[in-house]
Amino acid sequence: MATQLKAQLPLYDRGIKFTPQGIGGYDESWYPVCLSTEVDKGAVKGFDFLDGRVVVFRTEEGSAQVLSPFCRHLGVDLAIGKVIGDQLRCAYHHWKYDQSGKCVATALGDAPPARAKLFRFPTVESLGLIWAYNGEEPAYPAPHFSVDEEELEISTIRSVEVPMDPFMLYSNSLDLQHLISVHGIRFTETPKTFPVEGGRTISYVQKMVVPGLGESVQKVKLWGTNCIQLESDIANRPTFMMSAGLAVAGPVTRTFNVTATLKQVDKAGDEQMRDMHIKMVEQFGLQLNREDDPVMRTVSPRLDNLTKSDHGLSVYFNFVRNYPRFDGAADMIRNDYRIAATPAGPPPQVLTEIVFDPSETGHMDD
Ligand code: FES
Ligand SMILES: [Fe+2]
Repeated sequence: MATQLKAQLPLYDRGIKFTPQGIGGYDESWYPVCLSTEVDKGAVKGFDFLDGRVVVFRTEEGSAQVLSPFCRHLGVDLAIGKVIGDQLRCAYHHWKYDQSGKCVATALGDAPPARAKLFRFPTVESLGLIWAYNGEEPAYPAPHFSVDEEELEISTIRSVEVPMDPFMLYSNSLDLQHLISVHGIRFTETPKTFPVEGGRTISYVQKMVVPGLGESVQKVKLWGTNCIQLESDIANRPTFMMSAGLAVAGPVTRTFNVTATLKQVDKAGDEQMRDMHIKMVEQFGLQLNREDDPVMRTVSPRLDNLTKSDHGLSVYFNFVRNYPRFDGAADMIRNDYRIAATPAGPPPQVLTEIVFDPSETGHMDD
């Protein structure tokens, strides 16, 4: 098939394109919306999400929920509303919503219409992040490590933003040519297969020597098309790393990095060593982000010239191209009155003032 494609293609045609996110929906994945610390108890906040917005609303007891943001009455953004107990109240006419997104009360006692329901994104709070699933029901669990979160000391931060859909950024770990060329990694063993599970995750193991970190056997798992999990022993410590990307309009990928190691310490002083280890690995993650930044700012991938070393990459690209998309919440998250922003154009013209000079003007009756 590939040979046929090459034979038919004119030489100066770069071949198959990836369909940009937003066409036919966005990938049906778990997206990190914000850091847990960004929404306090009893607070509501708005965040960009895909090509629209969402609100993250945390009850006074502490449970977080991601909902479509526009009130089903007249569409005011609930990000400017108020949390009262476990309900979210709209700023305009005080309609109230529960965590399922259902309107449960209006201010004057009118019965809430049956259609007064926000889109409720399946929500999970873990690893210092609030995650929302772009779909009705999750087809796979939210990204997590192989060790329970309670056993881990975790640091989660916002990292780079790149002007590209997430899939490209997260193709990195399967991209041997890139890992060697840009990050200076040396492989002692590369995976022979890249098993895809349920069309939603890919897992494999690779042995490598990483500059500054030394030798490691790295267990890799890609979750959806926007998240990578890496587990290995670094400097004799079990080390857990994750990067996940939120797709927003642009396209832009907003990334979050999670770095962790085992919480348990055996003796005094170990705590500091543990925390220093996390900081060192976190810095390493940021360095990888910085090294990737220039290429991610310009990349325009096509699919007609992959080579032998691109085996992992080709498995991943097929996975990406077959990945399901969901657009069932599209109408609920966009503000139609704001999307058609005036495109930037030339500055307004300054008109030369027209001066009326009676001496140059004849009179009709002259
Ligand atoms: S617009 Fe929200 S209650 Fe009217
Ligand atoms: Fe990279």
